[in-house]
Amino acid sequence: MHRRKINIAVDGYSSCGKSTIAKGLAKALGYTYIDSGAMYRAVALFALRSGWITAGEINEEQLKKHISDIVITFKTNAQGEQETYLNGEKVEREIRSLETANGASRVSTLPFVRRELVRQQQLIGESKGVVMDGRDIGTVVFPDAELKLFLTASPEVRARRRFDEMKARGEHPLFAEVLANVKERDLRDTTRAESPLRKADDALELDNSEIGIDEQLQWAMEKYHTLTAQNEQH
Ligand code: DC
Repeated sequence: MHRRKINIAVDGYSSCGKSTIAKGLAKALGYTYIDSGAMYRAVALFALRSGWITAGEINEEQLKKHISDIVITFKTNAQGEQETYLNGEKVEREIRSLETANGASRVSTLPFVRRELVRQQQLIGESKGVVMDGRDIGTVVFPDAELKLFLTASPEVRARRRFDEMKARGEHPLFAEVLANVKERDLRDTTRAESPLRKADDALELDNSEIGIDEQLQWAMEKYHTLTAQNEQH
């Protein structure tokens, strides 16, 4: 049966497993997966490399002047994984560092950065069939998304997941530092003036602290099937 394509928004706190569920959905449905956080990370990497982010401040003037020089694209590698490119250079590894994560959280508070990335994200979503994860997808980027999911998990569970991921990449993080970073980003993401992280009124919420990936994906697929079956009856 041919089903009309929809857009799916997956929002939630950092390290909440958003990308795992979003990628799983995209694969199962043959949709395009877009990691909007990677776009904020790429902007941060560009700004860090240009020396525009220091401990105390961001050189907003320079970043604003050069925002349209930042071209972010995604390509799928031989293993079928999506990788992020900044001006044609593969930066998938670089954008996952703690330094870039912190930079991303900071540049994402700037209205002109959000405006530009939201514009690009909405263009990608025009043809439908997109699963996008982030913080403001259900509220700002795709307020009309047919399916909106909002994931939560405790800070400790999320820090443990990020800690394990970093160790698996051969890094030597300190758990306390990773936990502090998760909490710091939660605070910034939820309290910033511009598009703070919040659940859209029509989003379906799932706390995944205690449940595994297969179960989460099953939950999301059930929501998708219920919705599309309803749409077909109308
Ligand atoms: O999901 P992530 O950890 O890769 O996101 C990196 C940062 O970018 C995070 O601190 C919040 C910000 N972000 C945002 O403000 N809006 C989005 N749609 C996605 C990410």
